[in-house]
Amino acid sequence: MQIGIDRIHFAIPHYALNLRDLAQTRGVDPDKYTIGIGQDEQAVAPSHQDIVTLGAQAAFPLLKYIQSDRLAMVIVGTESGIDASKSSALYIHKLLQLSKWVRCIEIKEACYGGTAALMTARDYVATHPQAQVLVIASDIARYGLRTAGEVTQGAGAVAMLVSRDPHLLALNDDNVMMSEDIADFWRPVYQDTAIANGRYSTEQYIRFFQEIWQRYCQLHQRSFDDFAAICFHLPYTKMGLKALRHAMQASHLEAESTAYQRLMQRYTQSTLYSRRIGNIYTGSLYLGLLSLLENDTDILSYGDHIGLFSYGSGAVGEFFSGTLVNGWQNALYTNDHHSMLDAREYLSIEAYETMFNSAAPYSSDNYVTDACHRDGAQFFLNAITDQQRHYC
Ligand code: HMG
Repeated sequence: MQIGIDRIHFAIPHYALNLRDLAQTRGVDPDKYTIGIGQDEQAVAPSHQDIVTLGAQAAFPLLKYIQSDRLAMVIVGTESGIDASKSSALYIHKLLQLSKWVRCIEIKEACYGGTAALMTARDYVATHPQAQVLVIASDIARYGLRTAGEVTQGAGAVAMLVSRDPHLLALNDDNVMMSEDIADFWRPVYQDTAIANGRYSTEQYIRFFQEIWQRYCQLHQRSFDDFAAICFHLPYTKMGLKALRHAMQASHLEAESTAYQRLMQRYTQSTLYSRRIGNIYTGSLYLGLLSLLENDTDILSYGDHIGLFSYGSGAVGEFFSGTLVNGWQNALYTNDHHSMLDAREYLSIEAYETMFNSAAPYSSDNYVTDACHRDGAQFFLNAITDQQRHYC
């Protein structure tokens, strides 16, 4: 039985920041951001959007494929949760008016949470072949104004429907995972901005990929030649490139070889969306997968193997692969995604900073979200009163 991603769709805020403008204001050479880091634009979330509204919006188009009597679980992977106890999946479940006969949970392990959710879904379907599972990876990446991480912020959600006989990508049972307690990036519960040991985190990401890749090749007798493309978790688009280059060099893969050229070219394809959206933490790897499939200029084919590297600080890494199924092109939302990106409104630096500072506070105060900046959104956080969030 094949199990995998049946449908996949993403949602982003309607507002974006041009990183050349940010560089100019911060007194940085814009090439550092666009070439050195590999980011051109960044999604910015207005105050009425959080992981619940973005998650619900990402999942909304999948509703027509969900059968109430088959849906078994709604799993949200996130590291920007809105409550330390109650699962964001419950709020999304209500907004989407899903059947009550399901299990709603949230999974956390930094950016790896989306993959943990996907694998939980796959394993559930393996023992309950009729089941569908809705997986949502939703995050708002915030480091703070004028921090080193500011250029790597972003916001967005990816929703995936997981079932047997998927229409897009069959997941192969070849996962290799690795965990180690390290302090590269974390976010204490009392604040909404992350703390990053930036350069150390990039070294750890590269090391994790190298060690996991080597083990994967040994266990499964595979090499770079076996992959049509490899997608990476993309905190910024230069990151995966560094890890891929490092591993190719360690494998003595010649830069002139077909595998090298193919993987490099497709790596670029897989980063086009992230270049314009930024880090969406749990959803970043899957945004990369979508970018690869929806900006395919040299035609991937049915049966092609795609490698996926997931990394969540703290840290957990995992490499696994998927195989494109017959007719995979018909399961995409390419036009929808492209027009969502192209319709965005670009903010001045002043408007971006105001929006950044208007996010729901980490306090017990009552709070009402901005009545403006509601373009492009389907669901809204209206207010927080008596420490309860109110959505519509
Ligand atoms: P920084 O200190 O501002 O940048 O931090 P830098 O000085 O290291 O420069 C970055 C690159 O720009 C360098 O290239 C420079 O040479 C180049 P590299 O050596 O890396 O190839 N550069 C230029 N290029 C062209 N023209 C110029 C120019 N000037 C410099 N004029 C950093 C950058 C990414 C560390 C920072 O933004 C940060 O801390 N970000 C947040 C942490 C992060 O994203 N870490 C990534 C790995 S951890 C991860 O992936 C997990 C995560 O997603 C969270 C989770 O799991 O939950 C973050």
